[in-house]
Amino acid sequence: MKFAGVVLAAGVALTTAAPEWSERDLKRIASLSPLPAAPHNATNALADDERAAQFGQRLFFDTRFSSDGKVSCATCHDPALGFADGKQVAHTLGKSERHTPSLWNVAHQRWLFWDGRADTLWAQAVQPLENELEMGGDRVALVHALRADATLRSSYEELFGALPDATDWPARAKPGRERADDPRHVAWNSMSEASRVAANRVVTNFGKALEAYQRKLVRANSPFDRFAAALARGDTRAADEQLSPSAQRGLALFLGKGNCRSCHGGPSFSDGEFHNIGVPPLNGGKPTDPARFAGAAAVLADEFNARSAFSDAREGEAALKLETLEVNPQSFGEYRTPTLRNVALSPPYMHQGQFATLRDVLRFYSTLEGATQVGHHQEQTLQPLKLSESEIDELAQFLEALTGEPPDARWLTAP
Ligand code: HEC
Ligand code: HEC
Repeated sequence: MKFAGVVLAAGVALTTAAPEWSERDLKRIASLSPLPAAPHNATNALADDERAAQFGQRLFFDTRFSSDGKVSCATCHDPALGFADGKQVAHTLGKSERHTPSLWNVAHQRWLFWDGRADTLWAQAVQPLENELEMGGDRVALVHALRADATLRSSYEELFGALPDATDWPARAKPGRERADDPRHVAWNSMSEASRVAANRVVTNFGKALEAYQRKLVRANSPFDRFAAALARGDTRAADEQLSPSAQRGLALFLGKGNCRSCHGGPSFSDGEFHNIGVPPLNGGKPTDPARFAGAAAVLADEFNARSAFSDAREGEAALKLETLEVNPQSFGEYRTPTLRNVALSPPYMHQGQFATLRDVLRFYSTLEGATQVGHHQEQTLQPLKLSESEIDELAQFLEALTGEPPDARWLTAP
């Protein structure tokens, strides 16, 4: 009996202890933390301008740029819901095909959108403004709206110079992204080239202010970061105060058996690249969304990409990123690896919000039940991990420890 007691005690000790970290583990942990400042974006001269961020904050919460006057960026990117909307797929004027991602730490993203079809935050912002399912606005109506409001107008003009004199412009106009017979597209084609360039200048400046604001949406210094800092100075006692033994075992799974770091690596917990992990489409059937295959072509063709006339650095690093980009059929059905920082704040998960909780995500990685294949082109990286329920719980606890401290509260509400 005594012997059995020892075995039992040892068994208990085994499952409740924090792991021992090898030199290799310590290096891997150090590669995940701390989160550095967001990379400089030379394509937007005002990316780190304080007044631009304040103006961007105003724009972010303003519903007047939408066609029904009711939708702002914050409608879908709600600060109280992790700058997302808590829905499976976005739904305002119409129902979108994709899940609204969180905007926490978004300035760290190498490509924007699930399919990476925008290469800068400022170019990204034009798309929801004009998307018929989202805000349904347009760049010409935007110019009129900015001119009509004295505060917006003076803030804009202080940052970017005079707004164009739009008195003889149509009320609403934009190029035909969705439908060529859209009356707004016809109106757009009736405008002079100079007026169109002037409207494009305004809508990209709108994006640049929104980018400056979104660069403030950083949550760093999570319990995991404090744990990693303590481990790096050899203070295991302080490390243990930050992460429970089970969350530490979750970290060991993340680095080891789970091989999560092969895609969710680096301080952003994302390789910034695109993969197909086989998450089944929300409405069943075979996946039909080309995802990165279409996204790569779209960003190369984007009238507002980093190489465009609206970029403040047409030949810098951002332009280089486009030069090396290939449109590859193998990328059909691939989505960008999401960051896992702050992931606990914005359920549901995946590109269509297929999973309600982190534990559901982990059960998927465990069994790959229902996983889809899009044909022989698909990369074959994932194998079912066959995790036990307690391993799922440990990994979930680790992911929950990636929630960082919020920035100054003044950035989190409508000004
Ligand atoms: C109708 C809801 C909705 C509105 C309104 C909306 N968004 Fe989004 N946002 C989404 C969805 C859905 C996606 C993902 C779409 C995709 O990947 O195809 C997204 C993606 C983004 C991304 C990319 C994030 C990433 O991780 O790649 C940014 C940045 C963003 N939105 C900012 C904005 C800004 C700025 C506005 C206002 C101009 C705005 N959004 C308005 C739903 C919305
Ligand atoms: C082959 C690359 C790859 C590996 C390995 C991988 N992931 Fe992912 N992960 C992704 C991609 C890509 C998505 C988005 C897929 C989609 O939406 O269809 C994702 C989505 C997620 C999400 C949802 C995040 C969100 O905001 O919606 C979580 C959580 C997650 N992964 C955790 C993990 C964990 C934990 C592991 C290890 C057990 C892991 N991942 C292994 C690529 C990977």
